[in-house]
Amino acid sequence: MSESAERSDAPVFPAGFVFGTATASYQIEGAVSEDGRGPSIWDTFSHTPGKVRHGDTGDVACDHYHRLDADLDLIAALGIQAYRFSIAWPRIQPTGSGPVNPAGVAFYDRMIDGLLARGISPTATLYHWDLPQPLEDAGGWPNRETADRFAAYAEICGGAFGDRVATWTTLNEPYCSAYLGYATGLHAPGRTDAVAALQAVHTLNLAHGKALQALRSVVTGSPTYSVTHCLATVRPNSDSAADQDAALLYRAIANDVFTGPQLRGAYPEPILSATAGLTDWSFVADGDLETICRPIDVLGLNWYSPTYVQASPAPGAGPPIPLPLTFVEQPGERTDMGWRIDASGLEDMLVSLAADFPGLPIMVTENGCAFDDPVVEGRVHDVRRIRYLHDHLAAVHSALDAGVPLVGYYVWSLMDNFEWAEGYYGRFGITHVDYDTLVRTPRDSAAWFAELARTKVLPPRP
Ligand code: GCO
Repeated sequence: MSESAERSDAPVFPAGFVFGTATASYQIEGAVSEDGRGPSIWDTFSHTPGKVRHGDTGDVACDHYHRLDADLDLIAALGIQAYRFSIAWPRIQPTGSGPVNPAGVAFYDRMIDGLLARGISPTATLYHWDLPQPLEDAGGWPNRETADRFAAYAEICGGAFGDRVATWTTLNEPYCSAYLGYATGLHAPGRTDAVAALQAVHTLNLAHGKALQALRSVVTGSPTYSVTHCLATVRPNSDSAADQDAALLYRAIANDVFTGPQLRGAYPEPILSATAGLTDWSFVADGDLETICRPIDVLGLNWYSPTYVQASPAPGAGPPIPLPLTFVEQPGERTDMGWRIDASGLEDMLVSLAADFPGLPIMVTENGCAFDDPVVEGRVHDVRRIRYLHDHLAAVHSALDAGVPLVGYYVWSLMDNFEWAEGYYGRFGITHVDYDTLVRTPRDSAAWFAELARTKVLPPRP
């Protein structure tokens, strides 16, 4: 019996609780011009000087495209039950519409078959930010026709992989796609237009609903359908009424603008009044909300750190669109990304989601931290990452104890990878990647997580 199982006070997760790990296509695959793949907005953006730290691009990334079998063995060695990956739209439809690229389909066939052969359940995300560039040239996510292109792409993927994918996720973090891509310009395509960002929010909501309908029309299996959001745990910086109102407002703009239409069929009123100076939302057409609000089986949550806000008379720093509030940095331990570590925020989020959407199963589809510990004699002693994972998994277990219908937890990430505008600076992997040699070295956290996945008992905190 492992040491963990002997510790009678150690949190024990349900036997059927799924432990997994996650990646995304543009962040690890490389081979951006190989086998028919077309350009995505992240190819364009990362090659635009000044957009990505150090001028890094995903051209090679972790070269996962050429190392698939070895990486599948790396995943299998973790003893996890599921693997969350994303399908690159530009590999399936190089221009974002029209003919299907057989080599692209073949790559994900190999991946899915390889996972199943190793007893690992495939969790496929249809969109993790690599929009085909021609669709951006045609207006991108602010253009509502992109939702129809996405539905057609979803139907192709459902037809090709629907007999084997266990969990479908339509979108990964539409917050980032819309707000960082079209309002702040921090992410691809790098536009800075708040109204376009709100139009993108709506088109992404439409795309989600249309994709669910498209998948269900062709999928022959009985998979789980989901969407993944980076829902913010928003805390007022004081107990003043103004700060509490600011927190409610930011939560509406960051969270409810997606969960409202997708799960309740309406945009909450505070969103409409808070953005009245920007738009009248007339781009929402009759019937759109019925199209968006289609049932899902599980809600995916990506979570890293809480957000503190305070009211401000003028638009403040932090929110992606002009709002009378500002983010407040709190003291405390931080990761290499500068994100404050506070696992209580994850438990708060899970408990509030269970209260807001009673009975809706939830899975933590991303949680992890960036720490760059050195490789020493073939080992990486990433104690800080293990402590982060321990504390956040203890929070997940507390939420389970509180009755939250949690079904799984995926650690971000399987391996170090392209961290968007930060390039290769942020190292989130439980596996270290040497970007010169592309050698993978499992960190101590990989063994720690593997013990948890095998025993379902939370290992000790170092
Ligand atoms: C996200 C994305 C991931 C990131 C990870 C660390 O949540 O932003 O899903 O692609 O790499 O979260 O920032």
